[in-house]
Amino acid sequence: MPSSMGAPDPQHDPTTADRHERERLDTLHAAHTLLLSPTEEQLVGAHLGAVHASGRRSAVLDVGTGTGTWAFSTARRHPFADVLGVDINWAAYGRQDAPHGNVEFHTVDVTKPLPWAGGTFDLIHVKAMLMDIPHYAQLVERLAVVLRPGGLMILVESSMSFECIDGTPSAVVTSWCASLRDALATKSSDIDLPRSLDRTLAATGVFTSQFYFQEVGCPVGAYMPSASQALLRAGRLHASVIGPTLCRLISSRLESGPRRRSLERLSDACARDLQSPSSRYMQRLFAVYAFKRPSSDRTGPRHRHSF
Ligand SMILES: C[S@@+](CC[C@H](N)C(=O)[O-])C[C@H]1O[C@@H](n2cnc3c(N)ncnc32)[C@H](O)[C@@H]1O
Repeated sequence: MPSSMGAPDPQHDPTTADRHERERLDTLHAAHTLLLSPTEEQLVGAHLGAVHASGRRSAVLDVGTGTGTWAFSTARRHPFADVLGVDINWAAYGRQDAPHGNVEFHTVDVTKPLPWAGGTFDLIHVKAMLMDIPHYAQLVERLAVVLRPGGLMILVESSMSFECIDGTPSAVVTSWCASLRDALATKSSDIDLPRSLDRTLAATGVFTSQFYFQEVGCPVGAYMPSASQALLRAGRLHASVIGPTLCRLISSRLESGPRRRSLERLSDACARDLQSPSSRYMQRLFAVYAFKRPSSDRTGPRHRHSF
């Protein structure tokens, strides 16, 4: 791995806002892990296991690592993987146990030319980056180059809109979703991209025809008494951070101006509607897992396996 790049400052003293952002990201991560398990663990475990069984260590990249939680937990679970987490902002990062000494963090702006040779990584994980990165599809294309032939790419993104499962959304929620769509359309962010993550990967032309695809409704609140424990817990976690999550959606991409002010005015009322005990909202979460073709392989028809 290049060693000249910056890394999180161990002396960094987090502000209250940093701590809140770390808690928000870790809460969402816990909710999403409840919903995506065990598919991700099984695919990652089988893939890295095969690399390690071939007698070499694996290289894993977590793009926009944020808190570092995914990178740390992957490093703990897979002692023979060398995990690299990259980000441009370490405010939300929190050091965690790394008993195998196999995780590093570097400052890399992934909108710039990537500092790795083609085919460097066995596994690349990208989660919740859509709002932070303009031209997401171009990022995926460039990451596909640094993925090793046979390597696994994982993309995980949430839909930007909220759906009411037993009727029409309130006027405020409808207005929030419409305003966010309009605002982002001016920012090269495709609000509908999460539901076509597999097509984004396929468009690179370098992945095998077999994609694993998950689409899960993440409830906002524990409103389904007969649901699984995982759904109830995920819903409770999701609802607990919905207000700051709406604020982060606005602040990550929109500079001050009328569009941002209009969304800021809506966000409190929207969070209240979403969290209300009588509400039945959910946000879709999408994950796609795809393997890069060995270089000799030719593109064939695409099969999408849903869970
Ligand atoms: C919404 S957070 C998601 C963090 C983490 N992936 C997760 O799911 O908890 C997006 C992260 O992307 C980082 N980021 C934004 N632009 C970036 C860039 N150009 N290069 C690298 N990281 C970036 C942000 O600093 C932030 O930590």
